[in-house]
Amino acid sequence: MARREKDEIVTIDGPSGVGKSSLSRQLALALGYTYLDTGAMYRAVGLFLRDLHIDLDDDQAVAAALPGLDLHLFPVTEEDGDVRVVVNGQEVGRLIRSPEMGMLASRVSAIPVVRTHLTRMQQAIGRQGRIVAEGRDTGTVVFPRARWKFYLEAAPEERARRRVAQLLALGQEVDSQKVLEMTIQRDHDDQSRAIAPLLKAEDALLIDTSCLDIETVCRKMLAVVRGG
Ligand code: DC
Repeated sequence: MARREKDEIVTIDGPSGVGKSSLSRQLALALGYTYLDTGAMYRAVGLFLRDLHIDLDDDQAVAAALPGLDLHLFPVTEEDGDVRVVVNGQEVGRLIRSPEMGMLASRVSAIPVVRTHLTRMQQAIGRQGRIVAEGRDTGTVVFPRARWKFYLEAAPEERARRRVAQLLALGQEVDSQKVLEMTIQRDHDDQSRAIAPLLKAEDALLIDTSCLDIETVCRKMLAVVRGG
């Protein structure tokens, strides 16, 4: 039976700094699929709630604010190189990429109403099929029936080193020790939260990227997807 387009979803989960974003972008471009950066969505919600001065411990206030969120992701193109994130008409791509915004995203991602809201949005985007979804729970919760699932891991020191290089390339000031501490803290928070924690789906292929460059991992993943 011919494969239905809507079944054609690739999920890539794993901790921060493991290479998910670069790999997802490259894989999506190579396959002609849409890149769904779910982490950018949690970061955008963090920024949105922070700008409104919402108390993140007040579930009702968070729930009341969410209908006012108008969030759009514009897919990666060869020219842009990165996904464009627009919140209520404002392009926030650069604002949300700092380690501090990563910590804030991790915090808001533990709020049940935020997870429900974003999971629904992600599933609606996924309905069109031909998606490379990247995050923490895309293979377990968002797209449990995805056709191809990958789980990436690498040592925290190596992930922090990559993050430092990325931030330096963006021209940001970096404290390497602080980046390592934040990496370890975020792993702990993402793995220990009650809802949709960072977890390898049983049927995901595990790839340790510690000693592999992006091109090698990308070739490996492409071979799996093109293999059927
Ligand atoms: O991938 P990232 O660093 O941009 O993600 C930022 C935070 O968002 C991450 O620490 C946890 C949260 N997140 C999540 O809980 N579920 C996802 N599917 C993606 C991100």
